[in-house]
Amino acid sequence: MELSGRSILLTGASGGIGRATALLLARKGAKVTLFARRLAPLESLRSEIESKGHEAIAVAGDVRSAADAERAVSEAVRRFGALDGLINNAGIGLLAPLQEAEDERVAEMLAVNVMGTIRVTLAALPALEARGASPGAARDRVIANVSSFAGKVGVPYYSFYNASKFAVAGLTEAWRRELGPRGIRVALVIPAAVETEFLARLDRGRALGIGPAGTILKPEEVARAIVGALERPRPEIYIPRRNRWLALLNVAAPRLADRIVNRLFRYPGKRA
Ligand SMILES: NC(=O)c1ccc[n+]([C@@H]2O[C@H](COP(=O)([O-])OP(=O)(O)OC[C@H]3O[C@@H](n4cnc5c(N)ncnc54)[C@H](OP(=O)(O)O)[C@@H]3O)[C@@H](O)[C@H]2O)c1
Repeated sequence: MELSGRSILLTGASGGIGRATALLLARKGAKVTLFARRLAPLESLRSEIESKGHEAIAVAGDVRSAADAERAVSEAVRRFGALDGLINNAGIGLLAPLQEAEDERVAEMLAVNVMGTIRVTLAALPALEARGASPGAARDRVIANVSSFAGKVGVPYYSFYNASKFAVAGLTEAWRRELGPRGIRVALVIPAAVETEFLARLDRGRALGIGPAGTILKPEEVARAIVGALERPRPEIYIPRRNRWLALLNVAAPRLADRIVNRLFRYPGKRA
């Protein structure tokens, strides 16, 4: 998709990867609808984008709410005339041993990461389909879902987050096959650890692995991959690219992968 002039809805735009993605989309000439719960950071991002001569609107809402998702889509269409793309980026993390699981926290994470992705996509679908039918308009449309390497490879203490991001990977694969023939391309973005508030909120000693599993990406690197997913949609985009090999090994030789993953994640801060 050529991004200039195209209308893109971005969830989780108030911080981290979403904020960096919004700035890059705007620089490419896209008209961005910034969606997250906190209005203040969205408004300051909107004015930063406008001060550089680009277009954005801020819509405060929760991805768990169908009404909020529908409002974000209708605001995007009202202001920019159409919707060409959706980036499902909003998400929260949870790092907890199995025996310390708390129903409420697990349910909240599944609601945001899985149900949020479903609700916003459902809300956006009619507008994306309408765009495909509009005569004279560029008709290519893209949905990019932000999963995680933890959506491809299970890691101790990440089980609930793993479950949520494996679910996002499953949704994406099925939608790619379901919506692709209808002209909507669907891409999965699979980052390793990224230096954002997300990571700051987790127990870093447990959250990060060693060696290659200790790589920490900058939000701007992930933003480039997300924007690349819109420009040239591919089924799966690993960042860094080499992580694809461990994901393949994880499927082809799970016992070997068990040994590698348990070596890479040694949990210096692990409780007994
Ligand atoms: N950081 C990492 O290590 C890492 C690695 C791989 C994948 N990811 C994924 O990348 C995505 C972005 O994460 P990040 O690192 O940029 O985290 P972040 O800095 O914590 O940002 C998360 C964004 O999601 C929004 N959000 C959270 N709950 C929401 C809700 N219920 N409704 C609407 N928006 C909500 C937050 O905004 P509000 O609080 O204003 O709502 C914020 O804008 C997530 O899906 C995450 O799972 C992160």
